[in-house]
Amino acid sequence: MRAQINRDRLWDSHMEMAKIGATPKGGVCRLSLSDEDKVSRDLFVKWAEDAGCVVRIDTVGNIFARRAGTDPDAAPVMTGSHLDTQPLGGRFDGAYGVLAGLEVVRALNDAGVETDAPIDIVVWTDEEGCRFTTKTMGSATFAGLRPEADVLDGVDPDGKRFGDELVRIGYAGTEPCGGFDIAAYFETHIEQGPILENEGIPVGAVGGAQGQRCFEVTVTGEEGHAGTLPMDQRKDSFLGAARMADALNAVAFQFEPRPVITVGHVRVRPNSRNTIPGQTVFTIDSRHPSDATLVEMKKAMQSACEQIAGDMGLGLEMVETSVSPVVTFDAALVQGVRDAADDLGIGCRDMFSGAGHDACKIAGVAPAAMIFVPCKDGISHNELEDATPDDLAAGTAVLLKVVIDAANRT
Ligand code: GLV
Ligand code: MN
Ligand code: MN
Repeated sequence: MRAQINRDRLWDSHMEMAKIGATPKGGVCRLSLSDEDKVSRDLFVKWAEDAGCVVRIDTVGNIFARRAGTDPDAAPVMTGSHLDTQPLGGRFDGAYGVLAGLEVVRALNDAGVETDAPIDIVVWTDEEGCRFTTKTMGSATFAGLRPEADVLDGVDPDGKRFGDELVRIGYAGTEPCGGFDIAAYFETHIEQGPILENEGIPVGAVGGAQGQRCFEVTVTGEEGHAGTLPMDQRKDSFLGAARMADALNAVAFQFEPRPVITVGHVRVRPNSRNTIPGQTVFTIDSRHPSDATLVEMKKAMQSACEQIAGDMGLGLEMVETSVSPVVTFDAALVQGVRDAADDLGIGCRDMFSGAGHDACKIAGVAPAAMIFVPCKDGISHNELEDATPDDLAAGTAVLLKVVIDAANRT
């Protein structure tokens, strides 16, 4: 019997998972290492164990659910993504990659199909990076790109430590993080952009992803009384940060092809209605398909902020919190995605990812590729994020084929 994706089961699993942290407008809030993250992890572990998988958890909380292969010495074929979301996130960003992996295992079980190599479904910890220091924490640590101790010591805006939160939700595992071979890594994901939907194509074979540099900027002024300190005597850190945000936006228009630059998180201190803000800390997320241009952008952003701080008499510190170089996925695996779609009669086009993904980190230690499916109006990082059961099933059918091929190639 040939293994077949069960479209309705895949959809129902998404809807069940989306209940955890559901938001009023139909989205999801499951911040990394929150109570909601724990409940979603527990549900995944239960489903994986029900599907006969053996679950391991590593020291940064990455979850690996293994379906055994017939060759005990073979390195696993791995597939998965993340279950954490943005504060106003959607039902599919991340969850799709995990639940597609689970559906592959369930489909193999239904058909009684064995593979030579084992299959690991992975849930990476803190992909979104909106709570602690930066994103793709679990996969970057696995790939040796971030020291584990730094990750565990990261704190959220309330001063809560990553390592303590991991213990609190019961996912501080005992397996070492990283250090084992992966035969091939596949990640399915919604596109998070409009191309596939506009062209009516259900699957994207992703060749790579643009690079990213992130920064934390601290602007220091002086607190003062909002009623008494004349306007020309103020050192208002938030006013400086606002001017910097405007200047950073202008920097994005100085380069071709056009980069993206986002100031997304701002903390104003003391954050009081009638005190002039003494300190403002904000983040910059900058991305471009060329590593060299990212370096030029960094210089332009730095000098724009320095100019404003100098003019306003404010202190300025700009710390680079992460560098993710441009990624090229494994050519043979990407070709395998195209071929699988072709064999299945599913339309497919080549893509380049604007978003970052766990696959970008794993590409440094294993052959990796990604499969994209359309999302409604290209919307993501938004409660309104949506995708169709048919498109999710098409991407998962391609995943099933490439996973079986890779797991029998050992
Ligand atoms: C992932 O969510 C990203 O920011 O690219
Ligand atoms: Mn994602
Ligand atoms: Mn995301």
